Amino acid sequence: MELLCFMVFSICLLFSLSQTSSAADTITVSQSLSDGKSLVSSPGGIFELGFFSPGISKSRYLGIWYKNIPVQTVVWVANRQSPINGSIGSLTINTTGHLVLLENNRTVIWSANSSKQANSQSPVLQLLDNGNLVLRDERDANSGIYLWQSFDYPSDTLLPGMKLGWDLKTGLNRRVTAWKSPDDPSPGDFIWEMVLHNYPEPVMWKGSKEFLRSGPWNGVLFSGRPPKALPALNFTFVSNEDEVYMIFQMVNESLLGRMLMNQTISFRQQWIWSQVDQNWTLYGSFPRDPCDSYGLCGGNGNCVLGSSPICQCLERFVPASLEEWKLSDFSQGCVRRKPLSCKNDGFAKYYGLKLPDTTHSWINKSMNLDGCRAKCLSNCSCAAYTHLDVRGGGSGCAIWFGDLVDIKQIPGGDQEMYIRISASELGGNDEKWKIGVIAASTFAVIVGMLLVGYCYILRFRGKKDVKDEEIEERKEDDLELPLFDLPTIETATNYFSINNKLGEGGFGPVYKGRLVDGQEIAVKRLSRSSGQGMKEFKNEVILIAKLQHRNLVKLLGCCIQGEEKLLIYEYMPNKSLDYFLFDAIRSKLLDWPQRFQIICGIARGLLYLHQDSRLRIIHRDLKPSNVLLDRDMNPKISDFGLARTFGGDQIEGNTNRVVGTYGYMAPEYATEGQFSVKSDVFSFGILLLEIISGKKSKGFYHLNHRLNLIGNAWRLWKEGRPLELIDKGLGNSCTLSEVLRCIHVSLLCVQQQPEDRPTMSSVVQMLCSESALPQPKEPGFVPEKGLLDGVINPSCNGLTITELEAR
Ligand SMILES: *[C@@H]1O[C@H](CO)[C@@H](O)[C@H](O)[C@H]1NC(C)=O
Ligand SMILES: *[C@@H]1O[C@H](CO)[C@@H](O)[C@H](O)[C@H]1NC(C)=O
Ligand SMILES: *[C@@H]1O[C@H](CO)[C@@H](O)[C@H](O)[C@H]1NC(C)=O
Ligand SMILES: *[C@@H]1O[C@H](CO)[C@@H](O)[C@H](O)[C@H]1NC(C)=O
Ligand SMILES: *[C@@H]1O[C@H](CO)[C@@H](O)[C@H](O)[C@H]1NC(C)=O
Ligand SMILES: *[C@@H]1O[C@H](CO)[C@@H](O)[C@H](O)[C@H]1NC(C)=O
Ligand SMILES: *[C@@H]1O[C@H](CO)[C@@H](O)[C@H](O)[C@H]1NC(C)=O
Ligand SMILES: *[C@@H]1O[C@H](CO)[C@@H](O)[C@H](O)[C@H]1NC(C)=O
Ligand SMILES: *[C@@H]1O[C@H](CO)[C@@H](O)[C@H](O)[C@H]1NC(C)=O
Ligand SMILES: *[C@@H]1O[C@H](CO)[C@@H](O)[C@H](O)[C@H]1NC(C)=O
Repeated sequence: MELLCFMVFSICLLFSLSQTSSAADTITVSQSLSDGKSLVSSPGGIFELGFFSPGISKSRYLGIWYKNIPVQTVVWVANRQSPINGSIGSLTINTTGHLVLLENNRTVIWSANSSKQANSQSPVLQLLDNGNLVLRDERDANSGIYLWQSFDYPSDTLLPGMKLGWDLKTGLNRRVTAWKSPDDPSPGDFIWEMVLHNYPEPVMWKGSKEFLRSGPWNGVLFSGRPPKALPALNFTFVSNEDEVYMIFQMVNESLLGRMLMNQTISFRQQWIWSQVDQNWTLYGSFPRDPCDSYGLCGGNGNCVLGSSPICQCLERFVPASLEEWKLSDFSQGCVRRKPLSCKNDGFAKYYGLKLPDTTHSWINKSMNLDGCRAKCLSNCSCAAYTHLDVRGGGSGCAIWFGDLVDIKQIPGGDQEMYIRISASELGGNDEKWKIGVIAASTFAVIVGMLLVGYCYILRFRGKKDVKDEEIEERKEDDLELPLFDLPTIETATNYFSINNKLGEGGFGPVYKGRLVDGQEIAVKRLSRSSGQGMKEFKNEVILIAKLQHRNLVKLLGCCIQGEEKLLIYEYMPNKSLDYFLFDAIRSKLLDWPQRFQIICGIARGLLYLHQDSRLRIIHRDLKPSNVLLDRDMNPKISDFGLARTFGGDQIEGNTNRVVGTYGYMAPEYATEGQFSVKSDVFSFGILLLEIISGKKSKGFYHLNHRLNLIGNAWRLWKEGRPLELIDKGLGNSCTLSEVLRCIHVSLLCVQQQPEDRPTMSSVVQMLCSESALPQPKEPGFVPEKGLLDGVINPSCNGLTITELEAR
């Protein structure tokens, strides 16, 4: 039996609850020491302090771990580098007021490092409920003033309320260092710290090499993080004259969470204790995907998950070395297609990029975006600028010099960044307009009042253009829909070659094509029977082309020649949602954050169709194969507007032909042919269930509701086991609260009565807030009888039925 002693010489040592000072000069606390026995616990019994031996090691360390968690989880170690080899260790406040760890009553193994300690007359040691071991003066109770605290010397774990970063006054750098191995808590290679660039950012190092960045703080989050509607951990970043640090809190403060740097698997992990499983649940882990490896794509390269190759040059940039780029060596990065001239440059707007490495950066908290732009233009090595803080429309200025390193496309990210490019890239750009304005103004002065009006118009237009420097959003004015001629399209699609066929949509087959200038397109060849005049067709197509939203597939043009009616769309390299969702292997590529982004994107696109666009479009055939995915896996709804135009005769929401796909159709639409925005909401609900479960809605062919997706979801919901619906392939990537909310919303969307279903604008709100949701009633099923009436042939995959005579 080994003995462990606590000694207090002349000064009383207080353990918050268990020990109080006695009149005697010396209090000795003896306990039988088997490893893991606590010396003292925090008042609320959450943490305890004691000696332990990690893994197979025989050495002893003084550490802090959770009291009531059966798997011993050490969050802090005092003597990381100097273990106690012998059997007797004691923690003492010595006569000069220092906290020291002694071996054999003599040798100082470790001591708390603070000059303040010596000044205290009556130091008291306390373990707080947040896991902080503090030494304070007895008189400073509850003041938050500590002589020393373990939170200032993190080990491998960051707890809620613990700062990662700098006290600029004292030069204290609080950083997290992994253990060397599970048996050895001495510092390993992996370090996570706040780096004091002009624009400070947290960086994870492997030795002296940068390993992982989460991007600098943009006022809301670290810019490399995908935005999450309902995070479990709430991060805050503070930067002022005294301090630069980040800190996190649990959003639900009754949950235990921690962030850990793990040397063995070189990951930084977020863990949350699950009371139900009595085990730690992995909530997040970094790096989370290949794009997180630092600088993978070289300077000005953009890492785009799901693209091939994974590294893409930023738009208007080309590989520095095409040969090496083709061999997947991206280290040389990209260069501007048109070199900068310094004097005559402009800026193009980019969305959703993780902000580049801030080693060469500059910031000003009070400068506005115009000032920022001017500042950047004034220095030839300045390459980009953006808002320092994106909240409230944006404020402050951040500037980058030289190559932009370690960029990643953030799925669902929407921060804007302005990158310097040659003015000649900004075709019809603001620079030209500015020159135009100046020239015209000068001319006006000379020629006189006659031209003032004209000048005014020019100036007005010039101003508008200066405002949106970005090229993409310039389309508004020139909605003259391009007409392609048939030979062009025939060449592009190799004469509608079967090899180019992408699939068969509701209104005809779709082909992939490549125009002579290299642009890839998707061509929809409308079935010949639509019986519409050419003029009406063109008018309708122009209307559809005006529907522009980032979650809708863009119509590039059309082609009408004789019987042939073609619609030309932008090409979506990642095919459609069903291609990923219902494939055992590919579905693993869609983790929960990505699925959630897709859900939100579809909801926004549909909301736009229903409400925000000029036309108020009901889609009528929303399903995974009509949700296409772009390079960055952003969802884009396709085939919208077509039902309205080509779906046949319809009077006020009543149609004598039902267009759509069983399995996604609202009951009133399938049986009565009645459609409304609420029938789209129903389809959205099904889509949501499919995205969550990874299972296909098979429609209503099963007499047994258990075998149908809605029926199963409803049963699990009623039985309080909704989480069983979740796609097993999602593994640990789920944010359970988000998933639960999505299941809840989906059930509301598939209610039997249209009036019980929310509108898309409520759906968007419900998905992104934490407000309470109404309880769903039993969802709507299409009665099996309906099936017998229709001309449905279940063997033909039972899927797309474009036309069906209603009863
Ligand atoms: C404990 O043992 C290790 C390795 O055997 C040695 O490096 C260290 O100096 C020893 N510590 C003490 C206090 O003797
Ligand atoms: C108390 O410990 C500190 C730190 O190890 C040391 O500098 C100081 O000399 C010790 N005081 C006495 C009286 O041993
Ligand atoms: C450690 O020192 C204290 C005070 O000098 C003494 O009472 C105690 O017996 C010593 N313990 C050991 C294990 O030597
Ligand atoms: C102790 O503090 C001094 C200055 O305050 C610092 O130089 C030294 O590195 C610190 N030692 C440890 C082990 O933190
Ligand atoms: C996150 O923390 C900030 C500052 O501590 C606080 O204002 C905010 O309400 C917190 N947000 C959540 C969701 O807990
Ligand atoms: C916080 O977590 C506890 C324990 O899991 C749970 O009982 C409680 O409902 C949660 N609170 C909120 C607001 O989610
Ligand atoms: C790091 O991860 C490995 C493998 O999952 C695990 O065995 C080890 O205990 C972890 N280390 C720490 C310090 O948690
Ligand atoms: C706890 O979770 C880990 C994986 O995170 C697993 O390996 C382990 O078996 C679980 N322990 C218990 C008791 O469930
Ligand atoms: C920051 O911007 C403000 C407003 O533009 C300006 O007054 C100030 O001088 C700038 N500070 C620095 C250090 O450039
Ligand atoms: C441009 O910025 C770089 C990086 O901050 C600086 O070294 C250089 O002196 C600046 N040049 C001018 C002309 O201000």
